[in-house]
This record gives sequence, structure tokens and C-alpha cells, in this order.
Amino acid sequence: MLTLRELTEKTLTELGIRDALSVEDVFAKVRESFDKQIATRADDVRNLMLREAWLGSETNPATSFRSFWVSRESGVLTLISEKWLKSAPPNLKPIVGRQFNQLKAHIEAGLEQQRKKIESLTEETSLAKDRIDLSLPGVHRPIGSHHLIRQVFQEIEDIFVSIGFSVVEGPEIETPYYNFEALNIPEFHPVRDDMDTFYLELPKGAATPLLLRTHTSPMQIRTMEKQKPPVRVIVPGKVYRRDNPDATHSFMFHQVEGLAVDTDITFCDFTGTIEYFVIQFFGPSVKTRFRPSYFPFTEPSVEFDVSCPFCGGTGTAASGGTCSKCKGAAWIELFGAGMVDPAVYGFVNYDAKKVSGFAFGIGIDRMAMLKYGIDDIQVFFQNDVRFLRQFP
Ligand code: DAH
Repeated sequence: MLTLRELTEKTLTELGIRDALSVEDVFAKVRESFDKQIATRADDVRNLMLREAWLGSETNPATSFRSFWVSRESGVLTLISEKWLKSAPPNLKPIVGRQFNQLKAHIEAGLEQQRKKIESLTEETSLAKDRIDLSLPGVHRPIGSHHLIRQVFQEIEDIFVSIGFSVVEGPEIETPYYNFEALNIPEFHPVRDDMDTFYLELPKGAATPLLLRTHTSPMQIRTMEKQKPPVRVIVPGKVYRRDNPDATHSFMFHQVEGLAVDTDITFCDFTGTIEYFVIQFFGPSVKTRFRPSYFPFTEPSVEFDVSCPFCGGTGTAASGGTCSKCKGAAWIELFGAGMVDPAVYGFVNYDAKKVSGFAFGIGIDRMAMLKYGIDDIQVFFQNDVRFLRQFP
């Protein structure tokens, strides 16, 4: 059996129709097919309209059906008129003409009826749209949570605030003076190589170059310039270095700087404070140790380690193998610190003979990774909710 399309692509002669009875037959077939389609569409149209009423789509489900039958260019009626009527043999022309007119009237009446139905449905659907069901649960708008880095900042701030430190913040764009010179890092000092960073493009003749700070330490200087001892501050913030991204490096990361200066601060105060912080942060079962290190702005300088929180400082994983976090070393390097180098006091008009103090610079991303068992720093910056949701 030919489909409607196939039927209407051929002339009556090509279809082998040569007498009045066959003409009536073939027209009856078309009408039947229209009746069937319009009947099955009634439900579809209603569902579509209701769906659209709820979802607000712009399409009109009635259009495609209508144009299939009566579109001027390629509707079934046009095709029949072109293929069947115009080329009908003279003896059949009157009957084809009559049949065509009847079919046309039938189809138009059917479509008009459908249009009326849709109109009344539109009313029904707009009522549906306006209906408010008070028994439905309200719209849940998730309010989100702090990023893990922000949470760790908060933890660290809470610990230091509880022992008398206050929180200050400083600029992310710095001058070389604050970022380097005043921290006892003169222009050609080799440690600048480790702190290569981003310089701003400035107009010619600018008073000073500007750079994205490579550490939060410049705030030591800015704080001491502003206030006389005693000083007890921590400085949370973002810092920048020209590092290539990998599992432990990012060109932007976070630090908390610490500075305590007073008339009689000793090395014991220093190590005691750091130990207190580390134990508060990682829990009472960890131990701390320090090793000699070097920073131009502290003397002596140290590197603080914590006993590996993952293997309990044994270097051996629970499974019996080497602990993958500390690589069997039992200790994990935490951050740098030291007693403030007297040379630094010279830059801020503090009397190096009267005051002493300590400073430290904690890498927050590293602390968060250690405490929460995260092994790729990049996840902090990818904004993948599957990661973020793990730290509500
Ligand atoms: N500013 C150093 C860095 O980013 C970290 C640091 C080390 C800060 C020792 C300090 C300190 O305050 O005393 O590598």
C-alpha cells in the first residue's frame, strides 16, 4: 500500500486510476487518513499544550499538522490539486473536481473544529498555569557553603585569635620595597629567583614597579610601620608566583602570615606558640619539630614539621606498606618561620635592642590538603561541585 505522500506524488493515470469508482476510492482513502490523524492528535495536542503551559515552550503543536494538510507549497491538498486534478483525463475531470472540493471542505471543517478545541484548551491550560498548589513543598534554594580554603582560613584565624592575635589584611599588588627590600631581600639577592612573579605593566615613568605579592610577609612591614609594639597579627590572603600548575603548585595560592613583636619575646614563646597552633589544628596526637632553615627576614630561621597525621608518625601505612603521604619519612614539612631578623626592625624604626619577635608563613592550600587528605591542589580552583560538596 502506498503512503499518503507516495500517492500524492503520482498522477491518477500513473496510479492506474481510470474510472469514477476508483477516483472515489482513492479520495476516500485520503479522507480516512485525515480522520485517523486528527482523532489521534486530539489527545497529543492536549498533552502538548498542557506541557507547554507548565514549561513555557514557544512551539505551537497545531501548526505542523495543519501545514501537512493545507500548506500552500506542499500540503496534501496542494499536491492533490497539482497531481490529480490538473492532469486528470477529461472524462474524469468533473468527478475528480467534485471529490477534491468535498475533501477540501472536509479537511477545512476538521481543522476548524480542532482550532476551536485548542482555543478552549488554551483557556484550560492557562488556568492550569495560574493554579497555585499550596500543598507543594516550597522552592528549595541551596545557599551553598564556604569553600574549603575559606574554612581552613577560618580554623586558623580562630586558633590565633583565641591566643590574642588579631587579623589584618593587605594589598595583593605590592611594591618591590614591601615585597622584598624591607624584608631584607635586596635587589640581587638569590632568594628572589624562587619568588619570580607577575609584574604589572605600568606607564613609563611610574614611581615604582608593582607586582603581585609573592607572599604575605610584606604585611609584617606595613603593620610595624603603622603601630608600635606590642604587635600580634595574622594576615590571611592570596599570593602569586610564576609557578607552572601541577599537583602541588599553582600560580595563585593562599598564606597566613604571622607576626608577634614585643619587648621580651623569646625563642621558647615562638616554638610554644607554633606547637600550640599545630596541635589545635591537627589534633592532640601529632608532634612537632623544627629544623634549621633560611629566610632573609628571620634569624634564626626554621622549618616546622608535623609528625605525619596519616600514619601516626610511624612512616608505615595501616596496610603495612610505606605511608604514601610522608613517603615513609614519618614527618611532613609544614611551613617556614623564625625570629624576626633585627635588620627588619631597621626598616620600620623599631629599636632592635629593645624588641624581639617571631614570624611565620603558613601555606593554607598545603595545610588544607594535609588535614583533609587532598592530593591535588588544582581541585581547589576547578570549582567542581562534586568536590566542594564534600566540605559543606
Ligand atoms: N614568606 C615565606 C614564603 O612565602 C614564608 C615565611 C617564612 C614567612 C618564614 C615568614 C617566616 O614570616 O618567618 O616562602
